[in-house]
Amino acid sequence: MYYGGDYNPEQWPEEVWKEDVRLMREAGVTVVSLGIFAWARIQEDEGAFDWEWLDRVVDLLHENGIQVNMGTATASPPPWATTKYPEMLPKDANGAIYGPGSRQHFAPTSPVYRRLAVELVRELAARYAHHPAVVMWHVNNEYGCHVNYDYSDNARDAFRVWLQTKYGTIDALNEAWGTAFWSQIYTSFDQVFPPRKAPYSLNPGGALDFKRFTSDAALELYVMERDIIRAAGATQPISTNFMGPFHPLDYWRWADEIDIITNDNYPDPNDPESFRSSAFALDLMRSLKPGVPWLLMEQSTGALSWRPSNAPKAPGQMEALSAQAIGHGADGVLFFQWRQSRRGSEKFHSAMLPQAGTQTRTWREVTRLGETLKEFPQLAPESHAKVGVVFDWENWWALAHTDQPVALDYGRLVQRWYAALHAQHVSIDLVKPTGDLSSYSLVVAPQLYLLNDAGSENLSSYVRQGGHLLVSAFTDVVDQNDAFREGGYQVGLRQVLGVTVEDFGALVAPSSDTGLRSVGDSTKGGSGIGPGQSHASVTGPFGTLRGEYFCEELRVLSADVIGTFTDGRLKGAPALTQQAYGAGRGTYLATIPDDAGMLSVTSWALAEAGVQPELSGLSPWVEVARRGDVLTLINHGTETATVRVTGENVLSGNPVNGIELEMFEWVMVRLSNKTVSGAVR
Ligand code: GAL
Repeated sequence: MYYGGDYNPEQWPEEVWKEDVRLMREAGVTVVSLGIFAWARIQEDEGAFDWEWLDRVVDLLHENGIQVNMGTATASPPPWATTKYPEMLPKDANGAIYGPGSRQHFAPTSPVYRRLAVELVRELAARYAHHPAVVMWHVNNEYGCHVNYDYSDNARDAFRVWLQTKYGTIDALNEAWGTAFWSQIYTSFDQVFPPRKAPYSLNPGGALDFKRFTSDAALELYVMERDIIRAAGATQPISTNFMGPFHPLDYWRWADEIDIITNDNYPDPNDPESFRSSAFALDLMRSLKPGVPWLLMEQSTGALSWRPSNAPKAPGQMEALSAQAIGHGADGVLFFQWRQSRRGSEKFHSAMLPQAGTQTRTWREVTRLGETLKEFPQLAPESHAKVGVVFDWENWWALAHTDQPVALDYGRLVQRWYAALHAQHVSIDLVKPTGDLSSYSLVVAPQLYLLNDAGSENLSSYVRQGGHLLVSAFTDVVDQNDAFREGGYQVGLRQVLGVTVEDFGALVAPSSDTGLRSVGDSTKGGSGIGPGQSHASVTGPFGTLRGEYFCEELRVLSADVIGTFTDGRLKGAPALTQQAYGAGRGTYLATIPDDAGMLSVTSWALAEAGVQPELSGLSPWVEVARRGDVLTLINHGTETATVRVTGENVLSGNPVNGIELEMFEWVMVRLSNKTVSGAVR
C-alpha cells in the first residue's frame, strides 16, 4: 500500500525539508508526489534550468526510504513563459483570455506551450529516469480541470486539422453534421470554428466533435510527455490524475494510454450521502482498467478550500473514506498535500501535516492510518461484480447539448441509478457500451441517447448470449453524429427490446420551477393531464413508481407489456415491456423513476437476473465493497450497525462472526467458504 501525498518543498526554506522527512517517517509515508507545480522554481527562463535543489530533495527522500512519484511540472507555466509567449494562453467561448496568475493557463494545442513542455520534460526525464527513488511518473495535473474547453486560435487551427483527419473531405463533414440545416454548409475546413459564442443554438454534431477533439487534444499532450519519459529509458509506471466522472475527458479512451489509473476524490462531508457518489467514482476508476489496482492520488485529510462551505471530515471519516478507496480497488492512499501551505490560494486546505502542527486530531489520524497501512495484506483487484452500469462519455456530451425534449443531467442520472443499486449492496462495474459484458448477470443502460452501431451490437449480443438488459427512457435515439437513423427510434436495440418509441412525451422536469408541478401531482387530486404534467405513475411487477422527465408513447412490436402508466395523458398505455431475445431478456422502461422508483425497479431487475447482495440484511448506510474474497464493510451512518458476516478479519487475523460497526468504523473480512457460497456468482 502506497501512503503519502503531494509534496511541494519549493514553497518552503530548505531547513524545513529535513523536518518534513522526519515527520513523513513518523507518519508512515512511503511515497510523495513531487514537483507538480514547480516549473517556475525549476526553470528561471528559457533554457535556464536549476535542478540542484530538486536533486537535493530527491536524494534526501531516498536516503530516508521515501519514494517519489515524479511530477512533470507542466501544469502551471511560469510568468516568464506567458509574458514572452502570450499566444499560449487559452480563451473562453466569448474570446476572453484566461490570464496567468493562477494555474492551468495554457492552451493544450499551443505549439509554443508544447515546445516548452517538451524541453522541460526531456531534461527532467533524462535526469531522473534512473534515480532509484523514482517509482512512478505523474504527468501534468488534472488535465482540463479549470479550463474545460479552450476556444483560442490555437484550438481553432488544431480543431480544423482534427476534423480534416476525421472526415477527409468537407462534404463528409457537411453530411455528418447536417449543415444543410440553417445554411451552415461549409466549402472548406478553414471556415469551421470551435463552437464559440453564437446568437443561438449551435450545430449539435459540431459541438459533439469539439468535445471529442478537446478530450483528444489533452490526451495528445499526455501521450507526448509520456513518450518523452519512456524515450529517456524510464521503466516506472506513468500516469496522470483523473477526477472521477469528469465531463470533458473520455477516460475510457484515456485509460488505454495510462499504466496505472490514479484518481483524486473529494466527497463533501456536508453531504451525508456523498459516500455513494464517491463509490461511483471509485468503481469507475477500477472499471477503467480491469484487473489492475489503481491509486487514490489525492484526497483531503479534512477541510477543502474551494467549496462555499468547507466542512472538516468528522473524526474517523478520513480513515473510512481511505478504506472505501482500498475496498474499491486502490492499492494506495495519498493526499493533497503533505504540509499545509502557509501562503497562496489553498492555505486553508487541510493537509497531512496541518498548519496547527502535530498536536492535532488530523496528525493523530494521519499517523494512525500510516500505521494501519504498513504491512497491509495484498488484496485481489477483482470485484466479481455481477452488475454492469453503462456509462458513456460521448452520450454525456451529446445529452449536454441544448434542444432536447427535456433537459437531462446524464452524469447525475447515471449516478442515481448506480446509487439505487449500491444501496442494495451489490458490487457494480461501470462499463462502456462496447465493453466486455460477458461476466454480468444484469446490465443497466440508463438514458443512453447516443448509441453507435458497435455499442448496440455489443448490447444485443450480450442479451443474445443470456444477459439481462434493463434499458430506460431516451435510449438509442441518435447515432454517433447525434443524428436520427433511418426508421424511427431504437433502431439498434429494436430486435432486443421488441419495442420502439413513437413520441418521447416530455414531462415538466423535476427541478423546473414552473409553479405547475402541483397541477400534475395526482396525489393533490389533479388529473395529471395538462401542460404541467410533471410525473407519470407506473404500475408493474415492482409495485408502483413515479416516473419523471418522460412518459414515452411506445409502439409494442413483439415484447410483453408488464407495466402500464396509471395516470396522466398516457393512462393505461404500456410503460414497462419485456421480451426474451436469444438466451437473455430485454426490458424497457418508458420513463425515468424518482429515487424510490429506481430502488424498486432495480431491486426487481436484480431478482429477475438472479443477482444477490454481497451480504443481506445490511443497513443502507453500511457500504460493502468486494475485492476477491475480501469484503470491506464501512458504516457511513450515525447509528451503530450490526453486520452478520463470518470470516477472518484481514488486518488482525481474528475470526469474525457477526460484528457491530460504529459511525465511520470499517472492517475488512476475508469470507469463509460458507458465506461465499451464500452469494450467487
Ligand atoms: C486538486 C488539485 C490539487 C489541489 C487540490 C485541492 O484538484 O490537483 O493541486 O488543488 O485539488 O483540493
